[in-house]
Amino acid sequence: MLKLRICVAVFLACGLMLAGVSGASHHGEEKEKKVGILLVAFGSSEDSAQVSFENIDKKVKATYPGIPVKWAYTSHIIRKKLAGQGKELDSPEVALAKMADEDFTHVAVQSLHTIGGAEYHDLHRSISAFTVMGAFENILLGYPLLATQEDLERTVEAILANIPAERNKEEAVVLMGHGTHHPSNAFYSALNFQVQLRDPYVFIGTVEGYPELDTIQALLQKNDIKKVYLMPFMSVAGDHAKNDMAGDEDDSWKSILTKEGYEVVTVLKGTAEFDEFVEIWVDHVRGPMSHF
Ligand code: CO
Repeated sequence: MLKLRICVAVFLACGLMLAGVSGASHHGEEKEKKVGILLVAFGSSEDSAQVSFENIDKKVKATYPGIPVKWAYTSHIIRKKLAGQGKELDSPEVALAKMADEDFTHVAVQSLHTIGGAEYHDLHRSISAFTVMGAFENILLGYPLLATQEDLERTVEAILANIPAERNKEEAVVLMGHGTHHPSNAFYSALNFQVQLRDPYVFIGTVEGYPELDTIQALLQKNDIKKVYLMPFMSVAGDHAKNDMAGDEDDSWKSILTKEGYEVVTVLKGTAEFDEFVEIWVDHVRGPMSHF
């Protein structure tokens, strides 16, 4: 009888140790399964962005009732600016450390970025560090807006659904993406190709990558376009949209195209303000969640 009891005790101890190794518990404490979602945006200090973020928050919570949803911003500058206004926003690393402390065992991190660029890969590195530390039993990262072919096709539909209704087919729509030195910049050209299969006068340009406005201008000229709608292809209509796209300075896209003789109409709404785009991000949460 005593032998059996010792065996059971040893067996239990081994089980706890194994659980400890796998990261499910620390120092032999069994953790109850606790799933959480961390939404990670570049961040914004714009009021319109807060409305979009609240909309995303609401949709994620409706899709996963009872699952706590946390937020983090990757932009240090934005976090600092908000802190100056008394609004504390966490970096992904701080948010994850807090979640580990709050005994979360499974975390779905959802990127609210547009492409898998530098910010997304930095986030991936941070998540890997938490994995190595064994902070959670499982932590996984969801794709940004544009990752798969299906995402490209859905994004095309989202763009077409949100072009101003008064635009007629002979008029161009030029979307300003952010653009990057990162290899993922190729997504903008891919999207440009994909959208033009549906509507040849919709163009995707970027402010900091390729295609540049020069390239788009050549296409506008070739197609004898007279009127251009300018829209941001960024989650938030922030600084780039207000200044580089729609600003009155000589080097804004609006000024350059107006000077070239085009009639220009600007739309100041970020993609996160439109449900069709938000649904793509929200659907991507399913990637990590399906593994928990
Ligand atoms: Co920028």
